[in-house]
Amino acid sequence: MILTVIGARPQFVKAAVVSKALRNTGVKETIIHTGQHYDDKMSSVFWDELKIPKPAINLNIGSGLHGFQTAEMIEQTERFIIMSKKKFRAVLLYGDTNSTLAGAIVAPKLHIPVIHVEAGLRSFNKKMPEEINRIITDRVSDILFCSSEKSVLQLKKEGITKNVYNVGDVMQDAFINFGKIAQKKINLNSLIPFKSGEYNILTLHRPSNTDNNKVLQKIISAFKEIDKPTVFPVHPRIKNKISKINIPDNLKLIAPLSYFEMLIVITHCNKIFTDSGGLQKEAYWANKDCITIRDETEWTETLENNYNILTGDNPEKIINAYFFENKSERPNIYGDGSASQKIAEKIKQFTK
Ligand code: UD1
Repeated sequence: MILTVIGARPQFVKAAVVSKALRNTGVKETIIHTGQHYDDKMSSVFWDELKIPKPAINLNIGSGLHGFQTAEMIEQTERFIIMSKKKFRAVLLYGDTNSTLAGAIVAPKLHIPVIHVEAGLRSFNKKMPEEINRIITDRVSDILFCSSEKSVLQLKKEGITKNVYNVGDVMQDAFINFGKIAQKKINLNSLIPFKSGEYNILTLHRPSNTDNNKVLQKIISAFKEIDKPTVFPVHPRIKNKISKINIPDNLKLIAPLSYFEMLIVITHCNKIFTDSGGLQKEAYWANKDCITIRDETEWTETLENNYNILTGDNPEKIINAYFFENKSERPNIYGDGSASQKIAEKIKQFTK
């Protein structure tokens, strides 16, 4: 039996495919939902749509300052493990959220091995909370699954070489498998009033872009110059701020989308503006140019041939990047869509 600790939107997507592969491989799994994301549109929509096995417990931690949020997760995850009296053979963690960090602190202290999916990513920007979470999680992990060879090399530079595997990216498995289901279930017309190819997508949720109204206004002002309407599913963290911002007419604000809905709007869009990690990769797989509203990215492979262009919060750079046309072929940079199966098989061997 292994224990999975997840709590934020992108982790539900990653866990959905790995959890299925674990079941197919005969590995038993218990899931903890930390409750880091809790709105229906940020959480339960994903569990229902992706058919993730019900969590053994939802810790319902919710939002708060990093110290509070992470400390609550640590305390309650530790208590759950001790009280459950089960012998977990490993704790499985995804990505770089505070839920990941909490699992990485608890498990080793209870002498339970840590397995990290999306290991070895670095943005080299310690102002991002995720960078701290990644570094600490990798440092204490016993098995590290990387999405690319670059991540393997990064871990090597940091002296981490044992049990490091380049398996490819689990989000690609999700993109391929759930993409087919989404196409059958959801019609673009039912989501937005724009035709295929006639709109762009924007997502923003990084504190550096959203916490300061002036920065947010600067970014949003760029959209005046964008020649197609841009659909903007608004993360709850900026819902209140948006009323204080001037929104150009061609920016169309909508509620957060489910994963299937997002796959449909990505597939049909013109270009993607984002500060999300996952969406940079999804843009690549969907063959869409990506404009990343950050100064650096941990997904550096996507920057080759300008598939993905970094603009920071500079409106001029955002506009110029948008009008750059990329016609290059896109090789498989994050594996071939079989990462979850490879991960499940390794976990089976490890927990035998
Ligand atoms: C978190 C992760 C980030 C990940 C993102 C995916 C950390 C440090 N950040 O960022 O790495 O890319 O999830 O979406 O772990 N809120 C709600 N309802 C919710 C969830 C959040 O209203 O269901 C609002 C609250 O105001 C909250 C804020 O969003 O304070 C931020 O939520 P939090 O989970 O701290 O960080 P995210 O920005 O979602």
